[in-house]
Amino acid sequence: MSTRHDRPSRAAARSSTWSAEPYADALRTGRGPLFLRRRDGWLLPLDVERWCAGPDAVDLAVLERCEGAVLDVGCGPGRLVGALAARGRRALGIDVSEAAVARTAALGGHALCRSVFEALPGEGRWDTALLLDGNLGIGGDPRALLDRLSEVVAPEGLLIAETAPVDVDERADVHLVRGADPRADAGSPFPWARLGTPALLRHARALGWGPADQWSAGGRCFAALRNRSTSSRPEAPNRTAVMSSQRAANPSPGSPVPAS
Ligand SMILES: C[S@@+](CC[C@H](N)C(=O)[O-])C[C@H]1O[C@@H](n2cnc3c(N)ncnc32)[C@H](O)[C@@H]1O
Repeated sequence: MSTRHDRPSRAAARSSTWSAEPYADALRTGRGPLFLRRRDGWLLPLDVERWCAGPDAVDLAVLERCEGAVLDVGCGPGRLVGALAARGRRALGIDVSEAAVARTAALGGHALCRSVFEALPGEGRWDTALLLDGNLGIGGDPRALLDRLSEVVAPEGLLIAETAPVDVDERADVHLVRGADPRADAGSPFPWARLGTPALLRHARALGWGPADQWSAGGRCFAALRNRSTSSRPEAPNRTAVMSSQRAANPSPGSPVPAS
């Protein structure tokens, strides 16, 4: 049975750190270095160059597993949404960063500047949701995120999540910083999480997600989950979100996406 979890507030979900500098600048230039820095100084490098490049073989193998209409949650600069669009697939990226949405649109992908915790087009009808590149950390509360996605993904729909390559289940307040210097201005802290596959499966099972597969490739780890939650519901007509990206068309899963 699915339990409703406290959702990150709108303000927290639109954390200024992702929606402003230095992330926006890194996406504009396609270059890091950029890190998530914990209070104790521990640094998690962000792979900005890889995210801003085209999809690699590991990404393409993930795309092969996607079913039907795909929602890329925290799409960043949009390499996956762009690749899906190029293949004529129905796909939408969502991200709280305007710079990320702009880059995704420039690749020919559809994207919406929106938090996953806000109303989304096609709720309860997406065949696949993606949470890649550490995006299980979004909101800093994996159960709240998985619970939210059980509403967004169709019954029996798929969630493909990238997990940390170590057995970790961690929540921490982090700063998004350009370098390792702890004295550098770091903006406001925001909650983030890191999960290995065992922790993901533990949290997911408790929320009605059924394990479908797990694999690793190129040093990255992934798990696929099926939405067995009873909390999925078709989108109510008046909850259709208004698109705020540069693109005019809004590919909710039931409607065709114009070839890009
Ligand atoms: C670790 S990065 C991953 C980037 C990415 N998957 C890519 O292909 O470039 C996390 C991404 O999630 C976005 N994000 C953070 N909080 C979010 C939220 N509440 N809803 C949607 N996206 C969010 C960030 O702006 C950022 O682009």
